[in-house]
Parts: sequence; structure tokens; C-alpha cells
Amino acid sequence: MSINIDQYIEQEKHLFEMELKNILQEKNIPKSLLASMSYSLFAGGKRLRPILLLASYSTFASNNEKVLKTAAALEMIHTYSLVHDDLPAMDDDDYRRGKLTNHKKFDEATAILAGDALLTYAFELIANDDLLNENEKVFIIRSLATASGPEGMVAGQILDMEGETKSLTLEELETIHVLKTGRLINFAITAGAFLANASDEQLKYLEEFAYYLGLIFQVQDDILDVIGDPEKIGKPIGSDVSNDKSTYPNLLGLDGAQVQKEKYVEKAEKALQKANAEESYLYSLLCHFSERDH
Ligand code: IPE
Ligand code: IPE
Ligand code: MG
Ligand code: MG
Ligand code: MG
Repeated sequence: MSINIDQYIEQEKHLFEMELKNILQEKNIPKSLLASMSYSLFAGGKRLRPILLLASYSTFASNNEKVLKTAAALEMIHTYSLVHDDLPAMDDDDYRRGKLTNHKKFDEATAILAGDALLTYAFELIANDDLLNENEKVFIIRSLATASGPEGMVAGQILDMEGETKSLTLEELETIHVLKTGRLINFAITAGAFLANASDEQLKYLEEFAYYLGLIFQVQDDILDVIGDPEKIGKPIGSDVSNDKSTYPNLLGLDGAQVQKEKYVEKAEKALQKANAEESYLYSLLCHFSERDH
């Protein structure tokens, strides 16, 4: 490792975004649909999932061009989930990443369709990826579908919505986060390692690492909703309290949430050691995630 984590993130982000631009240019998409898809794809997302995927791949192999399309597919699914999450029927949010949400910038029907298009195009992209062999394609398509579908992210979204009207236990809260946020993070890490031919043993420990990383990401999200800088996070703080949501700070207090986060960090570190990956950008990303301010 020759560059620091901030430089690494910038470098991988740049590589990824060039690929994403090319991918969209290749398609014959109606203008208004393309405008809406591109708006959210390039609205300033942190690209955490693609960066994790690239970092996981680089831990075990070189030449990370091989995973760029998989990373793009993952970011498309993440972006679709946010476009739909912001709709009036769901969280009814007007701003994301400091900009108008998709349905506010365009209209609801366009936002719904842009989400649909991003979701389906993700799988088309993998199916057409010449850098993957047939086995790899099936593995990636299956695991991305499982991570995003009715037993994955979408399951988390409905449990999250239903949980808004009742108070949850810590266990129930963890289940929601593992599904809603954790599954895509898990995909990022395992897909990268799988395509780099990591061993089954390493994959097992990386899954464990991803599990805790997803929870760390979410505790920090909850903490930022209390003490974050609205300028940096691109949306007003305090929305969890005003929506009466069960969150870590709500259940454990702010200090308790910090302590819980530290516990998860320790477990994630141990899992990474067992995967023989403690000297990797994944480790630096773990530290970066748990301290992030946006
Ligand atoms: C936000 O994810 C939604 C959650 C799953 C909590 P990110 O914080 O990764 O969103 P962007 O893409 O960087 O805006
Ligand atoms: C969004 O969760 C998670 C997904 C879209 C899968 P939230 O509703 O908690 O995230 P924000 O606060 O809108 O980013
Ligand atoms: Mg939501
Ligand atoms: Mg939301
Ligand atoms: Mg939130």
C-alpha cells in the first residue's frame, strides 16, 4: 500500500465514474429517462459500495478493470433504491446529497421509471460483461439478486417502513439494517473477493467482516442524524427523531451507540484478520467508515 486512504478513495472513485459514464453513453435510452437516471447516478454519491468492491478484489488479485461493470451494476441498484426510497409513498424526502430528490427534480412517474430502469439495466450489464466467464456471471447475478430482492434490501425496506410505527428491540433494529443496508455491502465485499478467486475460507470470514461493516455504516448513519453537519451530509439532521424512528442513539443513547459501534469495529477487525486481509485497503476503509462525517 503506497497511497493513503483518502487518495485511494479518490483514485478508485475516478476510475469507477469514468466507467459509469461510458456505460450510459453506449445505450439508446429516451432522453428524459436518461436524464433522470444520470441525475441520480451522478448526484454526488460517495460510491462506497463500488469502492469496497474494488478494494475487496484488489486484496486478492490485480487488474481491477475486471470488476468495474459489476461495481457499476451495484451502484445502479443502490441508486434505484434511493430514488424509490425518497418517493412520497415512502420517505417523502425533497433533498438528497444536497440536491433535489429525483421526483422533485423531474416528476414521480419519471422517478419510478428511472428506478425501474436502473434495477433492470444492472443485470443486463452483468449478463453482457465480456470480462466475466459464464460461471462468474451466474454467481454475480444470483448474489446481486439475492442481496437486493425480497429476502435482501427490499425486505429491509418494508421492515423499516413497518417499524416506523412501533418501538423496536436492538435485535429487530439489527435485522432491519442487515437487510436494508448490509446485504448490498456484503455483496460488494464477497463479489470482489469471489471474482479475485479468494478461497472459500476467506469468503466466509469476509462475509463476517461485511456483516459488521454494514452495521457500523448504519450506526454511524444514525449518529450523524443526531450530531452530523447538515452541510456535509447533504440533508437536514434530526429526521429520525421527527419520524419517531427506532435508531441506535434512540435505543442506547448517543454514548451507547458509540460503544456499540466500537464493539462492531473490533469484531470486523477480527474477521479481517482471519481472512488474512488485515493489511489491505479493506482495513483502512473500515476505519474510514466508522469515523465518516458524511
Ligand atoms: C445511504 O447510503 C442510504 C443507506 C443505505 C443508509 P449512502 O450513504 O452510501 O448514500 P450515497 O450514495 O453516498 O449518497
Ligand atoms: C435507505 O434507508 C436505504 C435504502 C434505500 C436501501 P434510509 O431511508 O434510512 O436512508 P436515507 O436516510 O434516506 O439516506
Ligand atoms: Mg427509508
Ligand atoms: Mg430515506
Ligand atoms: Mg437514515
